[in-house]
Amino acid sequence: MALLTVAHVSELSPGEARAVEVGGRAIALFRREEGWYAIDNTCPHRGCPLAEGEVEKFLVTCPCHGSQFDIRTGAVVMPPALAPVRPYRVVVQGEDVQIEVP
Ligand code: FES
Repeated sequence: MALLTVAHVSELSPGEARAVEVGGRAIALFRREEGWYAIDNTCPHRGCPLAEGEVEKFLVTCPCHGSQFDIRTGAVVMPPALAPVRPYRVVVQGEDVQIEVP
């Protein structure tokens, strides 16, 4: 496992998200009032970017067909997607936002 810096804290406000590439993976990074969360950016249904979805509480809605995932666990909570996405641990060290990738 490696902790890789993907953003600076000041770059995202609570409620914002962005797609990042790290360790060859496309990851959606979310900043919420409660903290930072990261899951695979690619929706397992047809591949749309979850970083562009609306987030309410801890649920992101895929912008294409409305699948919902829990950004804390990657669990799918609303079809048409049937498979979960991978969650990643996010660590904030000073100004650096880091994601743990295998
Ligand atoms: S691509 Fe995400 S719900 Fe279809």
